[in-house]
Amino acid sequence: MKLENRVALVTGAGSGLGREISRHFAEEGARVAAVDLRPETAEETRSMLAGSSHFAAAVDVSDGSSVVEMFGKVDAEYGRVDILVNNAGVDHIPGDGRDQLLETGQQTIYMSDEGFTKLMAINVNGVFFCLREATRIMQREGNPGSIINMSSIAGLSQFGNVSYSASKSAVLGITRATAAELGRFGIRVNAICPGVIETPMTAGVTGPLIAPLVKATPLGRVGQPADIATTAVFLASDESGFITGQWISPNGGLVMQ
Ligand SMILES: NC(=O)c1ccc[n+]([C@@H]2O[C@H](COP(=O)([O-])OP(=O)(O)OC[C@H]3O[C@@H](n4cnc5c(N)ncnc54)[C@H](O)[C@@H]3O)[C@@H](O)[C@H]2O)c1
Repeated sequence: MKLENRVALVTGAGSGLGREISRHFAEEGARVAAVDLRPETAEETRSMLAGSSHFAAAVDVSDGSSVVEMFGKVDAEYGRVDILVNNAGVDHIPGDGRDQLLETGQQTIYMSDEGFTKLMAINVNGVFFCLREATRIMQREGNPGSIINMSSIAGLSQFGNVSYSASKSAVLGITRATAAELGRFGIRVNAICPGVIETPMTAGVTGPLIAPLVKATPLGRVGQPADIATTAVFLASDESGFITGQWISPNGGLVMQ
């Protein structure tokens, strides 16, 4: 097993990619702390995992004190964190102009201050808050660590609206800056940039937005959560031991760089 004896904390573990990553990690022998804004979904994920030494907790990653409190609980349970998957995120906030996009073909001028800043608080501040707490524990224990940040093809290319793309590009900036800083402590930081993956997030997006993307994808299909979970296992494991500050984009060829 590739992750035996490791403690892995997965944010946004109550749904979609976070749930699938948690399942793959548990199958590879990790003890998983599954955390989510919706504690009942985190608990549901915990109950699905292979093995018995998993943990579930609530967190709002956009709230620094909620993140500190949650890490305190995970620390009390396991006394270490070896892997962090910064997966929690949203692609849509009320007031972000998506409704007008469908009607008018444009979104930016309809996006409210709150529609922009709230999404950034979850997708960017949340990644930073969790990364900082995980790093404190990893450094205290002196153990090598792997941090995986969930970006998107929206962070690499023209696909995505102004707030979502800005947030996912920022995640790549966080990844590079912290990888450069933390390498000497044996902490690797990498990002995954998924293409269109079938999860509750994309189920909420209407056909006119998704269909052209699938049509433009050389492999001719949307991705499945397992396409991302296997990538996360690779980046979490020793198989990627010389890889840091990088992104990998499982996207079916939609974006090539
Ligand atoms: N599905 C895709 O096509 C796709 C593509 C590229 C990137 N991503 C990214 O992958 C990640 C997971 O997406 P998904 O498709 O599984 O979405 P999802 O909506 O199925 O799951 C997201 C999870 O994050 C949780 N969450 C939201 N806000 C939170 C907060 N403030 N604090 C803690 N948890 C919070 C939700 O409760 C939910 O369980 C996101 O960061 C998303 O931007 C998804």
